[in-house]
Amino acid sequence: MKVGIDSIAFSTSKYFLKLETLALHRRDDYEKYYIGIGQKQMSVFPPNEDIVTIAIDATQKAVAMLPDKNDIDLLIFATESSFDLSKSAGIYVHRFLQLKENCRVFDLKQACYSATAALQLAKSYVKENPRSKVLVVASDIVKYLPNTSGEPTQGGAAVSMIVAKDPRILTLEPHSGIHTTDIMDFWRPIYKSEALFDNKLSVYNYLKSLNITLERYLEASHLNISDLDCVCYHAPFCKMARKANQQTFKNKFLENSLIYGSLIGNSCSASIYICLLSLLDNTPEDLGEKRIGFFSYGSGSVAEFFSGIISAGYKEMLAPESNRQMIEDRRETPFEEYESIFSGTSAPVSRKYQNVGPVALVKIENDKRIYEFLCPNKNL
Ligand code: CAA
Repeated sequence: MKVGIDSIAFSTSKYFLKLETLALHRRDDYEKYYIGIGQKQMSVFPPNEDIVTIAIDATQKAVAMLPDKNDIDLLIFATESSFDLSKSAGIYVHRFLQLKENCRVFDLKQACYSATAALQLAKSYVKENPRSKVLVVASDIVKYLPNTSGEPTQGGAAVSMIVAKDPRILTLEPHSGIHTTDIMDFWRPIYKSEALFDNKLSVYNYLKSLNITLERYLEASHLNISDLDCVCYHAPFCKMARKANQQTFKNKFLENSLIYGSLIGNSCSASIYICLLSLLDNTPEDLGEKRIGFFSYGSGSVAEFFSGIISAGYKEMLAPESNRQMIEDRRETPFEEYESIFSGTSAPVSRKYQNVGPVALVKIENDKRIYEFLCPNKNL
């Protein structure tokens, strides 16, 4: 039975900061950000937007492609930027999407790898329950301390994917190469909202993990590197994916997969699937029946190399124009505003900022996050 991605959509915030602006205020050379790191802009998230609100926006678009959302009986929410150590962020998505009550919901965490773990779990679940559909949501907002080398790689996005049999976008293949090792290359203690990192170690371990997992994948699958038509990488910044591609694969198709990420910034768990969407949306040739490799990396660290075959007719399931429009429609944030948003001095109750989707975080009352539809009586 073929199982894989049947529907996919993404969302990011309504605001962005130009990296030229950041470079100017940090007295850094813009060429370092643009060429050295490979980033042009980063999405900036106002206080009324969080991993839940963007996840709801992405999910309503992914679910709209299904004949019946009642087929979803498992929702896995992958994130490393959760605000609650107990309650799942997925439950808010479940409520606002009005999914059936007879549906398992939980969050998964392992840095930027967790959405891949969710996808593989979903594949096994559908193989056991062929009538079921699984909703995999990856949503992250990445923050580093100001004036650190990580600052120009901040960003965020949510990707929602429906995993089902006879998928209309991509069939997951059976083999993977996996590598887990205990390393402190990037981490976020629970008392901090900004991530900490060891820049050189993280880049070194990413590339080392790629070598190990690719070799294991090729050995398990009895395939050669030439059997892959293209590879999508976890892209914490675009230059990282370019370095990875140079090491293994020498540039085939790669640039199309990095268009969205260069404008959004790092979206951690969502990043590799943003690359997939960017590749599918921005490649004019028909990629039907092509084999795509995936290198998923989560610091700490767990890495996996796996592959999938693009379905014939996949273009009918995409919305490239509206995806590009969503990025284009973002408003530029002046630097002072970026700093005020970052420092948390803008109150969530203020209606000063727009939301990208139908739901806003309107206040935090008694330590409870209160979300509301922007248009009352909205039915998703
Ligand atoms: N013009 C053009 N290029 C320039 C330049 C200039 N004026 N100045 C510097 N550069 C180039 C450098 O030559 C270098 O290029 P190479 O990588 O090809 O050598 C590049 O810009 C970066 O410069 P540095 O090596 O000096 O970079 P840095 O110490 O400032 O760190 C970083 C850069 C690693 C991207 C940093 O942003 C960082 O630490 N980010 C957070 C951690 C991270 O993303 N790690 C990636 C792997 S971990 C992971 O993938 C998980 C995750 O999502 C975080």
